[in-house]
Amino acid sequence: MIMRLLFIIFWAATLTYCADHGTFKDCSRVDFCTNLRSREPSDNYAVDPSSISGSSDSDTLTATLKSNNGDSDLTITLTGLQQNTFRLKITEVDSTQYELQDVLDGDPEILNFDNVEVGDASVTVTTSSGSNSAIITFSPFNIEFSKDGVSEVVFNGDRLAVTRNDVNAPFSFAVTYPQALQLYGVHEHCDTLALRNTADSGTDPYRLKNSDVAYYETNSPMALYGAVPIIYGHGSTATAGVFLHNAAEQWIEISNQDGDSQAYFMAEIGTLDIFVLLGPTPTEVVRQYTALTGTAHLPQLWTLGYHQSRYSYDTQEDVENVISGFDTNDFQLDAIWLDIDYTDSYKYFTWNPDTFGDPVGLQETIASTNKKLVTVIDPHIKVESGYNVYDGALNDDLFVKNANGSVFEGPCWPGISSYMDFLKPEARDYYASMYSYDNFQSSTSTIAGIWNDMNEPSVFDNSLEMTLPADSLHNGSVRHREIHNIYGLLHTMATHQGLLNRDNGERRPFVLTRSHFAGSQRYAAIWTGDNTADWPYLLASFQECLNANLLGIVFCGADVAGFFNNPTEELYQRWYQAGAWLPFFRAHSNKDTSRREPYLMSEETQNIVRNAIRTRYRHIPQWYTLFYEHTRFGDPIIRPLFYQYPEDTNVYSIDNQILVGRDILVRPITEPGVEFVDIYFPGGETEVWIPMTSNDVQRGTGWASVNISNQAIPYYYRRGGAVVRKNLARANTAEMVNDPYRVYWTVDWDSHAQGTVYLDDGVSFKYRDSTDYNYYNLDINGDDVTVTPIDGDGNYEFVMAEMVRRDIVTLPKNDKPGTFKETIFTRDANGTLLKDIKVHLKEKTVFKLK
Ligand code: GLC
Repeated sequence: MIMRLLFIIFWAATLTYCADHGTFKDCSRVDFCTNLRSREPSDNYAVDPSSISGSSDSDTLTATLKSNNGDSDLTITLTGLQQNTFRLKITEVDSTQYELQDVLDGDPEILNFDNVEVGDASVTVTTSSGSNSAIITFSPFNIEFSKDGVSEVVFNGDRLAVTRNDVNAPFSFAVTYPQALQLYGVHEHCDTLALRNTADSGTDPYRLKNSDVAYYETNSPMALYGAVPIIYGHGSTATAGVFLHNAAEQWIEISNQDGDSQAYFMAEIGTLDIFVLLGPTPTEVVRQYTALTGTAHLPQLWTLGYHQSRYSYDTQEDVENVISGFDTNDFQLDAIWLDIDYTDSYKYFTWNPDTFGDPVGLQETIASTNKKLVTVIDPHIKVESGYNVYDGALNDDLFVKNANGSVFEGPCWPGISSYMDFLKPEARDYYASMYSYDNFQSSTSTIAGIWNDMNEPSVFDNSLEMTLPADSLHNGSVRHREIHNIYGLLHTMATHQGLLNRDNGERRPFVLTRSHFAGSQRYAAIWTGDNTADWPYLLASFQECLNANLLGIVFCGADVAGFFNNPTEELYQRWYQAGAWLPFFRAHSNKDTSRREPYLMSEETQNIVRNAIRTRYRHIPQWYTLFYEHTRFGDPIIRPLFYQYPEDTNVYSIDNQILVGRDILVRPITEPGVEFVDIYFPGGETEVWIPMTSNDVQRGTGWASVNISNQAIPYYYRRGGAVVRKNLARANTAEMVNDPYRVYWTVDWDSHAQGTVYLDDGVSFKYRDSTDYNYYNLDINGDDVTVTPIDGDGNYEFVMAEMVRRDIVTLPKNDKPGTFKETIFTRDANGTLLKDIKVHLKEKTVFKLK
């Protein structure tokens, strides 16, 4: 009896948390994956030395690869690029494969070779005064990419296969990373940050095929909503990357054994077009990748606050009540979200007349509390004649077609729907025009952001793996299988353009997207889709967003406190405390879950959550500065420890701690019922971590056990850094704008600390199109404070109300944490209130603290 009960409980649990493996195929049910995966390495190709063309002072070398097993001959095209990067294309001699567009941020910057030397057995190409080289060995064919004489990436010719059949043209290749101890990348999977070994281990390779997977599982290589086909190899001597610029379905086998780190890429169709990034540090490799695919533009300030969503707020009264629930209970809030039910029968760009009868009135109420509204707009269009969006798209021939040329129709939220063909520039323009204030009727500027969902795209048909048929057609003749993974990217391009047009380019668009690809960061933020209110998913939100941050997509978050199911009270508290430290911070939940706005919770939980949200708002200036630095340099906003401490091999698989920028270390509590946790403090003897939620100063010498309470999750500031905050608890970011700053200095051995702060209007593109911003360096030396303009010509004065200096009193010793002393300064040594000190916009401001 007990066994039976246990079985039923187990069965119910797996039923709840299991993705549908009948619908979503594993490798053994995908022909090209099965075939390529089992293919033994063999030397099928050799370079024909007489075919080599390319010389010093050119930027491209070409050569013919002769097949010795009857397959087609291939052409190698190797190009030198700026920033320690090479581009390598290998195609059939007269390739007709689709050449991907829209992904790169403009044409990559070419760099002429400085030498091309053809020998008997190989040709060597060098760039950057010889510091980067590619040596192509003729037979057996392979290419070794090195930086400063260190071999970083080897293209393994013995795993190259370029095949073709009636349906598709699968190809494969492998790269090894001789310096790597660990591989990272291939977003998006719900898995550990460090890629697991998939070869010979009974698990599938990592799959990239954007999919709407309900109840996705943790620790799984199954495809999720997004795809970013890049792999970094990292070791203590070098970090390198390989990015496959191809939007077809892919599977990637990771073999991380015997000190050999190899990634074997298997793609269904399209062009073998890779970028080899030679780092050699994590910072440089990420910058090289974002130089190719772009960075996120600055988000509007309000988007960094807290967002409240639910599937769905059913009526406008409901929405108004939620807003007043937040305001009367003193919870900070910047935006409220409307899910699909606000529309008239799921016809996007309309309002449900019964439940949202006065949308303008609703928006006025929201605006009167200084908040914003975000509404969902999906890419499927209800098939209904008389619905203007549908009629217009049908007339103008803007829908995806079946292979036989008729318009594709398939089921989604509205019932039978057609799908915008976003590969067509005219379809993007048309869709963008729908966002205008005239076309999206009763929408006002209070709708300050748009949520693009279901854009894998999702089609409710299990036999199609929940998406468009692979042979459906885009823009005339491009088969869906060739561009599947960029459908969401193209959708957000159109929306982004629509929001730009709607506001005459005066506001930075805010778009949230579920499906994404390399380069999506230029148009949208992402979230991790339909997670579950269970502890492993809380951890997964950090693993996934850390990965996305390394791959350029920095504006990432997850549904707080889990989309499916109801969280326990403890999980709910911990999720808010943790979620406040991801770049995008939004609560969202499914239809059948209990209502869980924070003000409905017990008093204790309300206090905990109120504090968690306040912690977020206090750090808004620091988040904003980090977003600016991302925009400018391409750096991740949240970082795994290895990014900042690349030589410390102990941190390579840590993904339950994050660094927010360089200076804040956060350990989300992702397990129930714990009273202490082990935290790894990186940086060695000289690095010290100052606690913000306790008194235990830690040295950067590795693991330490730290007591925790249910009141907060532990976070630390790095000694030697400056963190800029605004501490007054206002209702939202708009009401914080004129508040003065509070600078936290955590001074070094020699009483020194340094940081930066960025200021602008929080809304416009003036920071990009002009110098209307201010970016300052902040420095303290003993009692001397120096604020130095780095650049920007704006009039955004940096007003400080308070400075908080934390000096170490005792260092940690023999397992005992150290202690610190906090001094709060509000005046300078002359007695002038800090907030009255005028910061020079053009030159240094220097003053002494009292
Ligand atoms: C999808 C989204 C979810 C949304 C729902 C209804 O499942 O992932 O966030 O609430 O659709 O629009």
